Amino acid sequence: METVEKKSAVETYIEQRKSSDSEPICAYVYDLELLKEHATSIKESLPSFCRFYYAVKANPARELLQTLEPIVDGFEVASIGEIGKVSNVSGKPMLFGGPGKKDSEIENAMDHNVEYFNVESFHELNRMNYIAKQNEVTLPVLLRVNLSENVSESNIRMSGVPSQFGVDERDVQDLIKKAMELQNIDVRGFHYHAMSNNLDAHAHVRFVEMCIEKSLAWRDEYELNNPIIDIGGGVGINYWNPDQPFDWETLATGLSQCETAYKDENLTLFLEIGRYVTAECGSYVAEVLDVKTNHSEHYAVIRGGSHHLRFPAAWKISQPFSIYPIDEWRYPFERPEITDTKVTVAGELCTPNDVLVRKEYVNRLRAGDVLVFEYAGAYGWTISHHDFLSHPHPEHVYI
Ligand SMILES: Cc1ncc(COP(=O)(O)O)c(C=O)c1O
Repeated sequence: METVEKKSAVETYIEQRKSSDSEPICAYVYDLELLKEHATSIKESLPSFCRFYYAVKANPARELLQTLEPIVDGFEVASIGEIGKVSNVSGKPMLFGGPGKKDSEIENAMDHNVEYFNVESFHELNRMNYIAKQNEVTLPVLLRVNLSENVSESNIRMSGVPSQFGVDERDVQDLIKKAMELQNIDVRGFHYHAMSNNLDAHAHVRFVEMCIEKSLAWRDEYELNNPIIDIGGGVGINYWNPDQPFDWETLATGLSQCETAYKDENLTLFLEIGRYVTAECGSYVAEVLDVKTNHSEHYAVIRGGSHHLRFPAAWKISQPFSIYPIDEWRYPFERPEITDTKVTVAGELCTPNDVLVRKEYVNRLRAGDVLVFEYAGAYGWTISHHDFLSHPHPEHVYI
């Protein structure tokens, strides 16, 4: 891994923090300018039949939502908590998904700016109709499909495999018929979120084409209005090799070709992207407390760990990182150091699972240096088990 070279938001933070506080550094640092530029370039690359929604679960921090608000067309939410967070910063429309919606959430969502409700099962459809009837409204819904085919080689798949999400493609026709019978339900389209962290842009385009074809076939069979086709998120970050990122241009070009190919169909395509939007703008920054060798393997122990950034432990991968060298050393005794070797980076928890980096090469690493874990802006802090061992939480800094 490379030593950090250019002045960045993270570097600015580390310099300020080091000059003002002797406690070991531990923080999430967000570069909001980078987020703004990245989200704007995504939006500008999309053809006009696309709507760009941000999947709030990737990172619901208020500062990020505020930065994205002027850029995105809306937000994908999966709980009343997320609906509240979006409502605090935006009047833009929301899509409400998630496999376990409570009656109270559905009712509450109707009072907010929720434009479409995803239907995840027959029972949920019945409940939505029941609640809508009691409130004398009609709910616009997208039917969530678990496709029969596997659509990518991504880490997590919600298609072509059994899952708690959506309705088996083989049952979708029954679901449409059922929905059409219900007086307080309006079928507006289909929802296909099918994968997580897909790195193959060509596979993503094929998936979009498949979603369009299936939606049009059901539209024709049941004389539905032109459907909204929600292709979900799942655009990946290459944590293993950040120099070879997901080829966004291939996806954007593929979407434009779809717009041209289906121009007479008057389709609207929704993207609800999380990871790819916010991962890069966030870094988790943690000071090395100790460097040691144990059974011939080298370990660095940091102030922090998987209770703050659970993702690499959950996926059993190395979080990409760089080293910010700190030359000051405040003790009168020897500074632990390793050079030209592989290191495992562990956290401060009392479990061997608390690992953020597995046997990666470093030129030099010393106690007191600072590790900058990159691509930590999505599925970082909020998916982690913050209070295990009761260590203080990291700072959250928005630059
Ligand atoms: C329904 C739905 N839409 C969108 C997303 C966002 O996916 P990603 O962060 O991979 O883009 C998720 C993630 O779990 C999801 O469940």
